[in-house]
Amino acid sequence: MENLAQTFLKLSPEDFLVLSSIESGMRGHEWVPLELVAKVSGLSSRRAEYRLHLLSELHLISSENLHYHGYQIDFDAYDLLALADLVKRDYVASIGDKVGVGKESVVYEALGEIPLVIKFHRQGRTSFKHVRRHRDHLTDLPRVPWLYAAAIAARHEFRVMQRLYPQVSIPRPIALSRHALAMELISGLPLNRVELSNPQEALDIILEEIGRAYGLGIVHADLSEFNVLVAEENLKIIDWPQAVNADHAAASELLRRDVGNIVRYFFRRYKIDLSLDEALARVSGRGQEAMV
Ligand SMILES: Nc1ncnc2c1ncn2[C@@H]1O[C@H](COP(=O)(O)OP(=O)(O)O)[C@@H](O)[C@H]1O
Ligand SMILES: [Mg+2]
Repeated sequence: MENLAQTFLKLSPEDFLVLSSIESGMRGHEWVPLELVAKVSGLSSRRAEYRLHLLSELHLISSENLHYHGYQIDFDAYDLLALADLVKRDYVASIGDKVGVGKESVVYEALGEIPLVIKFHRQGRTSFKHVRRHRDHLTDLPRVPWLYAAAIAARHEFRVMQRLYPQVSIPRPIALSRHALAMELISGLPLNRVELSNPQEALDIILEEIGRAYGLGIVHADLSEFNVLVAEENLKIIDWPQAVNADHAAASELLRRDVGNIVRYFFRRYKIDLSLDEALARVSGRGQEAMV
């Protein structure tokens, strides 16, 4: 697919109707039969087939010849459905350039009432087994297609962010649709790409934020210099989909790993020598204080 915004503008309401019919059909079918697309969309079979043909040419759907002709949407179409919904609900007025491609997401700039990013989750396609093993919010599920894995991860991240904001310094969560999370845009660079003028103060602030999140019952579980953005006035911690509750069996181990990543980074880059145990005591000490 070319540019998300360009493709978005190219599609007609009927195209969106067909895409969302395939989406809902995928709850029950790996490959959605033409008849079901026609039935759910309310279009005639011929009309639906014509639209399906155009959508395949745009690489928004794939098809498979089983004993019937079946259709599937891919992440690009899922992105467009989520974007259309965020626009319809008035959270997003326009979408801009890609600003980040992470391990498990594609992030675009957008404009709403404030400057936003939309983080489109990409969990599930390549690493779903890994995701299932490590993320407690997925363990109850049956074999879930990538579509739902990404949506579940986005919802989990949104809920965690709602729980933390504004007490912890994170981007303001704005809205959720499927696997897409709209949040406040932070203008700044990740910690690893910035030369801090006062690293000691930054380290103190990060530990304080980790402690505050812990006090609210949340361990980030994927914290590193790549998931801290340095904005003009402050630091923001991003990328929360793998967060666990503080009472999770592995929480203290994950907290130790998070704090260890940060402490090691500041030692490597700035030669600040703080022991992991002391850093942990500060973090969890704060946690207990806040929980009383
Ligand atoms: N709120 C935001 N403001 C600005 N840039 C962001 C924001 N959220 C994410 N990004 C950018 O997108 C990248 C990927 O986002 P992240 O949440 O870390 O997902 P991943 O799990 O894919 O690493 C980040 O490294 C950052 O460059
Ligand atoms: Mg990240």
